[in-house]
Amino acid sequence: MYLTKDEEAILNGELGEIKAKAMRILATLGDIFDADKLIPIESAQIAGVSYKTIGDAGLEFLEDWSNTKVIIESRMNPAGMDLKNWREMGISETFAEKQLRIIKALTSMGVKESCSCTPYHAGLVPKKGSHIAWSESSAVVYANSVLGAMTNREGGPSALSAALIGKTPNYGLHLKKNRISEVVFDINFELSDLDYSLLGYYIGSIAKNKIPAIIGIKHASNLQLKALGAGAAAGGGVAMFMIENLTPEYEIIKNPEKITVEYDELVKIQEQFCTCEHPDIITFGCPHCSYEEIIDIFDKVKTEQEIWICTSREVKERFQKIPNNIKLFCDTCMVVAPIEEIGITCLATDSTKCAHYSQNLSNLKTLIKSREELIS
Ligand code: F3S
Repeated sequence: MYLTKDEEAILNGELGEIKAKAMRILATLGDIFDADKLIPIESAQIAGVSYKTIGDAGLEFLEDWSNTKVIIESRMNPAGMDLKNWREMGISETFAEKQLRIIKALTSMGVKESCSCTPYHAGLVPKKGSHIAWSESSAVVYANSVLGAMTNREGGPSALSAALIGKTPNYGLHLKKNRISEVVFDINFELSDLDYSLLGYYIGSIAKNKIPAIIGIKHASNLQLKALGAGAAAGGGVAMFMIENLTPEYEIIKNPEKITVEYDELVKIQEQFCTCEHPDIITFGCPHCSYEEIIDIFDKVKTEQEIWICTSREVKERFQKIPNNIKLFCDTCMVVAPIEEIGITCLATDSTKCAHYSQNLSNLKTLIKSREELIS
């Protein structure tokens, strides 16, 4: 990959050892993926923030890098706990101490202490056609598909490197020619809110890393598309989808593969994620809830069972009164918090992404139902 004189100088240590390392990571990625050059980006969203997922090795890495500064708007993915109300979550002192060190390392680099997988609900909404370097999978797929911004699915270190340099290698979804679908899914039935998450998971499991195109959906809210994208990212690493007449981009190759989706496939996925009947807790906010979603839950909730809602700090701070059986947590989520260590064995959710990772990362049993059913 071609580097300008200034970029070469950074690689050679002119701005210090850490920026040189960051430039080396970007240059190596660029060489591997055949990028022609680095391009400027407007924002970075950095995953690998929870102590549960990065452990001591990740903490040491971030502390090593903490004396240098990001040069663009940069935000964090959810941490392993609500940074202020972690005791209410039942988090141990040991975990909290390490988690707070991770946050300190990142904030000292200038990364905003806004830990969310939905930064677009918290004031960071990239424009159509803008280049960004985001790393949380559901945020990446939303940015590419719904907002029309351009990002690859970055790893934590590559997103952090991009934040420090302000640039990312020009390959993959940064190039128009790669934002074309090869596989079209035809939907011939009406979709409920839960169906969007189930459909996303199904499509993801078939499309894998390709860009799926969808026909047959006439209307969908951005919240339904958020659920679809998160499901597709969890089901098969999808970083972008397109829906005819709905998403900002819709381009398919000549003679694409065509798949008609049967409703039974969605039923099978729901069954796969129903492995217990009596959840210890009901959870919402995977991806993090918007203000409107939380209002809707507060207005309709009837159950007296304990509910956790996960959201960004920016959204949480808009609520003064919270119903008694609801805990509104920010900065974290039910997947990247050490939920399995605080006595929870079965969790209810309306999200296939949450169910997938709760089963596979946290080793929990899950129950997946619509939001309406869970709160009635
Ligand atoms: Fe967000 Fe956690 Fe789900 S990061 S998408 S709430 S697994």
